[in-house]
Amino acid sequence: MNNAETVIVLDFGGQYKQLIARRVRECGVYCEIHPYTLSADRIREMSPKGIILTGGPNSVYEEGSPSCGRELFELGIPVLGICYGSQLMAHVLGGEVRHADVSEYGHTELYVMPEDPADSSIMKDVSGRSVCWMSHTDRIFAVPSGFETTARTDVCPVAAMEDRERKLFAVQFHPEVEHTEEGMKIFRNFLYGACGCSGSWKMSSFIETSVRDLKEKIGTGQVLLGLSGGVDSSVAAALLSRAVGRQLTCVFVDHGLLRKNEADEVEAVFGKEGDFDLNFVRVNAAERFYLKLAGVSDPEMKRKIIGAEFISVFTEEAKKLGKVDFLAQGTIYPDVVESGTGNGGAVIKSHHNVGGLPDHLDFKEVIEPLRMLFKDEVRSLGLELGLPRKLVYRQPFPGPGLGVRIVGDITAEKVRIVQEADAIFRQELDRAGIDTGKGQFFAALTNMRSVGVMGDGRTYDYAVALRGVLTNDFMTASACEIPWDALQTCMNRIIGEVGGVNRVFYDLTSKPPGTIELE
Ligand code: XMP
Repeated sequence: MNNAETVIVLDFGGQYKQLIARRVRECGVYCEIHPYTLSADRIREMSPKGIILTGGPNSVYEEGSPSCGRELFELGIPVLGICYGSQLMAHVLGGEVRHADVSEYGHTELYVMPEDPADSSIMKDVSGRSVCWMSHTDRIFAVPSGFETTARTDVCPVAAMEDRERKLFAVQFHPEVEHTEEGMKIFRNFLYGACGCSGSWKMSSFIETSVRDLKEKIGTGQVLLGLSGGVDSSVAAALLSRAVGRQLTCVFVDHGLLRKNEADEVEAVFGKEGDFDLNFVRVNAAERFYLKLAGVSDPEMKRKIIGAEFISVFTEEAKKLGKVDFLAQGTIYPDVVESGTGNGGAVIKSHHNVGGLPDHLDFKEVIEPLRMLFKDEVRSLGLELGLPRKLVYRQPFPGPGLGVRIVGDITAEKVRIVQEADAIFRQELDRAGIDTGKGQFFAALTNMRSVGVMGDGRTYDYAVALRGVLTNDFMTASACEIPWDALQTCMNRIIGEVGGVNRVFYDLTSKPPGTIELE
């Protein structure tokens, strides 16, 4: 541990551990997550400024539950226990934790007591009455000696407790979850007040730490990264380039299903003319993909073909490089959560999950330098590393690309139509000042052709669907209200400028029942 000001999060199996780490980083304090089994001796050696105990699904009083020794609380290091962590603190120090008849879940009214907490309390400046997020069945029935109750709810008489003398603090609720209105005050009180942190850590410090760790790990080895042009793999490339320069080779496969000019834009950033020190290999494989996809209209089949072909191309290129020691990936924290292996198992995300990892590639280890970060953190890291804003704030784009935005079979002609229409749509959204950062906006090609009249002639052309959805988590989404003028301009421009289109629809479907992509 090389940071002068580090806080350790001890993981007891809680689902919010990364969110806790993120809140600590938001307070400008470097944070590391470790398993709860980290020994007190090792912690003493690391000498962190503070320790946070996470929640977890177990009951502290049951045999075999994740636990810790009393010495953790006797190191003289401030400790904040959250949920299970708070119960563990109570249990280990002689308080009483039991199953409660009434459990609490969700938004809950929190009453701070006394209403004007002491200066050294982590409840300082928290309103007497606010809303917190609860999720528990067990609870603290009696606080250990030396502790004072500092908050309650209607159901839970000990929603927070502390022993300010020993700098031990506990909250039954989740201050890290945004539903807890004043959660950040509690983190700030703990970090700046109890732990005495200065809050001077920045994303640039993350770069320093990561670059040093990556250098150490990679040594003189060769690293291969599949670059998709999306935010995550681009930021991973920039970071690795900073660490190991030309020991990094980025393979960028243009499968012919990218957005208009996207391949050239990626090359402009990472290729010879770009600002990054790395080996950049661009593979123009469009023809190969179109050939494999010819006549295939089943959506799943298309996805499988694109995925498999992608792996073939990527593997062929990788083999040309000779021995590769590390395969790097732009996995970020939400990917780790989604795949359900948040507890440290390797998560394999290859090129936007196009088709999994090339399993016949020989390498020592997978490196995922962004796996602790949330999307917005990845974006600020990207800017800090000098990536263009346009790339860093790029719209999410699926691995199979336009392949899932062309209903039915794929041809070069259809790809051209959807690329052109999509570029116009995005330009007009920009012009209309629509905030596209809150969702996903794109054009798709329906497989429908219909009769129209242009000039004096009859047309029998395609219908383009414009789609704009607002979403927080991409699991649910609703159509974005786009000003009529902007839609009409798009319609006029697309029909006028994109050959082969004579109708434009706006897709109003929410998810569910629809999906965001068309296929
Ligand atoms: P759907 O269409 O399932 O999309 O509502 C939800 C989000 O996932 C993206 N998406 C994909 N991303 N590989 C990816 O990397 C895929 O195969 C894929 N399919 C959908 C989609 O763009 C949206 O952001």
